[in-house]
Amino acid sequence: MTTLGIILASARPNRVGAHVLEWVTATLDDRFDVDVIDLKEVALPAFDGLTSPKQGQPKTEQHAIDWGARIESLDALLILTPQYNGAYPGQLKNAIDFLYAEWESLPTFLVGYGWNDANEVLPMLETLMGRVGAEVVGSVGLGFRADLSVDGELFIREEKSAALREGADLLAAKAPAQVG
Ligand SMILES: Cc1cc2nc3c(=O)[nH]c(=O)nc-3n(C[C@H](O)[C@H](O)[C@H](O)COP(=O)(O)O)c2cc1C
Repeated sequence: MTTLGIILASARPNRVGAHVLEWVTATLDDRFDVDVIDLKEVALPAFDGLTSPKQGQPKTEQHAIDWGARIESLDALLILTPQYNGAYPGQLKNAIDFLYAEWESLPTFLVGYGWNDANEVLPMLETLMGRVGAEVVGSVGLGFRADLSVDGELFIREEKSAALREGADLLAAKAPAQVG
């Protein structure tokens, strides 16, 4: 099985992201062993490493060690992010900043939601993930009114589901199932 991490980036109690997550998991097939990584539960503090993770020094804090091990265990990644002030939520940037080598070459697909098909956050997040060395294979943006209501009612366009299925194919191809 290919272990796919799905990062749920919103930490709001009534997050629309929870509904979007249901669509994502229902659209993916059983090729993946899914690890839902809820940043609200991961609850990292503001980055507190002694050095830049890019330097590759041993992590000193237990939360950083645990976070690194969780991402290291993945074969592929899907990031589910809202668009906040034209960008990703701060806790997502913080969670990414905590690590470096763990992101490298990790096949990654992005799902954004917001107004105008989340067209601001997706290119920004693609740049960020590229910067830390992840292999971004694609993205899909869901739009309020077109695909979902602001309360999280879903009426997602078929082309968006097709784009997610294509993304899943790319992730599976880049991260072949582990044997044993
Ligand atoms: C702080 C904040 C800033 C926002 N800024 C934007 C924005 O720039 N563009 C946009 O499309 N939606 C924006 N929104 C609306 C969110 O896309 C919407 O509230 C969405 O439901 C947030 O995802 P969540 O419910 O999973 O947290 C913003 C919402 C918040 C809370």
